[in-house]
Amino acid sequence: MISITFTSMIERNVNLKSYNTFGIEAKAARFASFSSVEELVSLLTELDEDPLLILGGGSNVLFTSDFNGLILRNEIRGIEILHENENEVIVKSGSGEVWHDFVMHCVGNDIGGIENLSLIPGSVGASPMQNIGAYGVEIKDVFESLEAFHIETGEIHSFDTTACEFGYRESVFKHKLKNQYIITSVTYRLTKKHIINASYGAIETELEKMKIDIPTIKNISDAVIFIRSSKLPDPNEIGNAGSFFKNPVVDQEVVAKIQETHGNVPNYPAPNGQVKLAAGWLIDQAGWKGKTLGSYGVHKLQALVLVNYSGCTGENILDLSTQIIEDIETKFGITLEREVNII
Ligand code: FAD
Ligand code: EPU
Repeated sequence: MISITFTSMIERNVNLKSYNTFGIEAKAARFASFSSVEELVSLLTELDEDPLLILGGGSNVLFTSDFNGLILRNEIRGIEILHENENEVIVKSGSGEVWHDFVMHCVGNDIGGIENLSLIPGSVGASPMQNIGAYGVEIKDVFESLEAFHIETGEIHSFDTTACEFGYRESVFKHKLKNQYIITSVTYRLTKKHIINASYGAIETELEKMKIDIPTIKNISDAVIFIRSSKLPDPNEIGNAGSFFKNPVVDQEVVAKIQETHGNVPNYPAPNGQVKLAAGWLIDQAGWKGKTLGSYGVHKLQALVLVNYSGCTGENILDLSTQIIEDIETKFGITLEREVNII
């Protein structure tokens, strides 16, 4: 029998600048890409005691030092329709597909359900990791199942919605099962008879400007792309990883107290009678918006986004985030939690 080995594809001392949207110049001791489960298995035979990191688009990571282990970049491609009827379509995607390309593929084929999630950077495989969400939709709303490679046993396990334990920017893969699985494919339950979700205020406003009364999924996608492009920095121009912190979920009393002292903080209903506050507003009120410390800082249009203008280190960004957390604690009594994965 012929045995194929892919280990020669492992590169050493690789600069990660183009593999993370913050544009941080860290190095990986060893780095390789895989485009199938077979390649992945072969590469994992090279795994020793050193740490392992799976990388998609690198749009939700902050490298704070060189990575002294093996980084495997996911390039598993392929989109297939598993089942369809007159109302819905079950679509399976390789986890290495680019998320926005997958959304455009669906919108282009009049398949609905993820148009509100247009222009989110990263890979399909990372979409369930933190249950990506934007403009009134989260992955859990359209999720059917995923397949994941169990690193310890080499088995492929299937996870349904319940098993993923989705929450706001959360899943079981960030907690109980952290670093145990490599997601190889994700299957979504999407629509042919569309349910248009234009409830998010900014979308309504944009559709009005576009003079659209009865929006299609393409209109929603266009509106979301326009809104996002107008306030979030493009990582190709300014290094960033989107929202650096999660929006804090707090009790009603906390909101009332902030409103007494600081005025009307934007807030949204959360489960169990709690309230989600706009962290961007808190950071903005605290005076951080647009603050620049040499080559890095807080974005001038969105205070929730920390930015690398040119050549800062991951430590610089991490230190800045710590200063912001401490300041928000002092001013509002709220402890912000980082959304970005600190490596
Ligand atoms: P990476 O950064 O490569 O990885 C993130 C984490 O997931 C790492 O811990 C990694 O090890 C793990 N991982 C990745 N792939 C796999 C896999 N196949 N199997 C196992 N583990 C894996 N997020 C939102 O939710 N909503 C937004 O609106 C949003 N807007 C953004 C805007 C900008 C400009 C940017 C830069 C980011 C934004 N993000 C947003 C964050 C980011 O796009 C998402 O978290 C995205 O899903 C990350 O995908 P990725 O492939 O780049 O993940
Ligand atoms: N705001 C300010 N000042 C700021 C930023 C925001 O006052 O500097 C106010 C806005 O005016 C608005 C409110 O805060 O009233 C919320 O702002 P926005 O609509 O921009 O959304 P967000 O809560 O800051 C969240 C997600 C984004 C997602 C958008 C749209 C989190 C952590 N962030 O941002 O996700 O795209 O909603 O749904 O939940 C990401 O996760 O990386 C991300 C970009």
